[in-house]
Amino acid sequence: MQPDPGQLKVHALLNIAVRAARRAGEVIVRSLNSLEALTITSKGRNDFVSEVDRAAEAEIIGIIRRHYPDHAVLAEESGASGEHDTLWIIDPLDGTTNFLHGFPVFAVSIACQQKGRLEHAVVYDPMRQELFTASRGGGAHLDNRRIRVSKQRSLEGALIGTGFPFRGSDRYLDAYFAMLKAAIQNTAGIRRPGAAALDLAYVAAGRTDGFWEIGLSPWDTAAGTLLVQEAGGHIGTLTGAEYTQGGHVIAGTPKVYAALVELFAPFVPEGLRSC
Ligand code: IPD
Ligand code: CA
Repeated sequence: MQPDPGQLKVHALLNIAVRAARRAGEVIVRSLNSLEALTITSKGRNDFVSEVDRAAEAEIIGIIRRHYPDHAVLAEESGASGEHDTLWIIDPLDGTTNFLHGFPVFAVSIACQQKGRLEHAVVYDPMRQELFTASRGGGAHLDNRRIRVSKQRSLEGALIGTGFPFRGSDRYLDAYFAMLKAAIQNTAGIRRPGAAALDLAYVAAGRTDGFWEIGLSPWDTAAGTLLVQEAGGHIGTLTGAEYTQGGHVIAGTPKVYAALVELFAPFVPEGLRSC
């Protein structure tokens, strides 16, 4: 594959996001050697945060603020700050539970939204050193090479990612299990890697053909949403409506997305119908 010359004209905002994601990745990888010494607190049942999440987030916000002190930020650990047309949506360590176990599937996710519209996205996997990027209208890239969703046109033979419900969304376990059963019976296989941002990046890269999860947060999905869209995929609510952010989501190649919406239709309860 030839490097994509279009990628050479990287937008300044995307450049900052990439720099911040790589720095956060360094913080995360460095602390993998001392996992036992980490202070871990619980934000709720099965919802953990470590000093690494916080240090990675501080690193990212520090870099953004140095260049754009006025921009607004919405980050998983420190919440919302500032008021501005440009909003950075940050998950410093998506897949914290994996990370805390040394299970090497986690990522840094940074999206930049302007006037409510996603414009730039970065998902960085510090273990594989894979950098997924997208800018609106500029396509999606993995390490400077253009990526596209797979050519999969049906559920038969499709590989689908998902996330199991936990925290509050486990009240929908029965509905989720019905969807999971239907997905298992109609596809080539289901994967639950444990980092939603990376799950969406993998759809964008054609490594999986679709993905669904309930109970997500904006920082889990903001960057992944633009990656999927710029890679030619579709992303929407469980009922196939327009997706904003967080909540309940289906993504995939255009055909697989439509097929998943149809497959799940009988099982989506009222509480999961919008995102
Ligand atoms: C979590 C991961 C996981 C998903 C959860 C997310 P976190 O993010 O993306 O795959 O199932 O819903 O909250 O909490 O590790 O940043
Ligand atoms: Ca997350």
